[in-house]
Formats: sequence, C-alpha cells, structure tokens
Amino acid sequence: MEAFEKIFLCASAVVLLIFLCALGYSAGSMGIRLPSQAGEIYCRSDQKLRKVLRNTPPFDHPGVREVAPGKFEAVVIGQTWAFTPDEIDLPVGADVTFVATSADVVHGFLIPGTRVNMMLVPGEVSKFNYRFREPGEYLLICHEYCGRLHHTMSAKVVVK
Ligand code: CUA
Repeated sequence: MEAFEKIFLCASAVVLLIFLCALGYSAGSMGIRLPSQAGEIYCRSDQKLRKVLRNTPPFDHPGVREVAPGKFEAVVIGQTWAFTPDEIDLPVGADVTFVATSADVVHGFLIPGTRVNMMLVPGEVSKFNYRFREPGEYLLICHEYCGRLHHTMSAKVVVK
C-alpha cells in the first residue's frame, strides 16, 4: 500500500469518527432530535383535507391548552399562507409540545433561535417539544417554499 493511501484512509476514518462523536454529543447531551411522524390524518381522495381537519381532533380546536401544570400543547395548522392560530401565548418556562400539520402543501415550522424546526406534511402530524425559558416575542416562520406568498407566512409566539 502506498504511503499516501494509508494517510488518506486514516484521515477519512478520523473524520468519520469526529462526525459520529458530534452526532452522539448532539443527540445525547444537547437533546437534538429529528422530528418524527407522530400520526396520520386519514383523508379520502374525494375529501378536502382542510375540511377533514375541521372534524379531526386536536385540529378541530387549534390553539394552546394546558395539559398539566406548566405543560402545554399548542395545536397549529399551516396552510397557504398562514398559521392558525397566528399568535401563541405562553408563560415563561412553559414546557410546550407543538402538534402541527398542514392543510394543503408542505410547509415549514421554524422558530429561529430555538431548536424548534419541523416540516408540516399534509396528512401527517408533526410533534416537537420545547421549553421557553426566556420571555420575549418569537417569530414562527415557514421555511419550506410553499407558493407565491411563502415569504409572508408567519406567526408569533409570545412568552411572558
Ligand atoms: Cu408555507 Cu412557505
């Protein structure tokens, strides 16, 4: 084996090892997780998903509710080109689980400066848990291109 071959083989093994460590650290110590599919919404092909959502819990009542002391559930629907509700009010320190879906096309669900980052896929439920420790107004934006007015699709999370 050539000396250079050995060097490159070793270097790539080291790089792989570094990536694996970074993955382990982010999953183990920082609690970074890939958002997983948390359910499906059954919709026949002759039905409008938007209408089905209106009769499917919890999406028949979008908004925030306290499920246990200090624990909240925020049910959000994304549709072109808005989030329902467009304002989510939470107390400081709230442990909130976002339960969200899309009523039409694929949308994004991103709160910059936090770990909240999901995709809203029509017919699928996305869930993400986060604790807001700092008071403030957080922007919730769509970060998947979803049509002409994609750039206007936003809502806010008010923590106080
Ligand atoms: Cu919704 Cu971009």
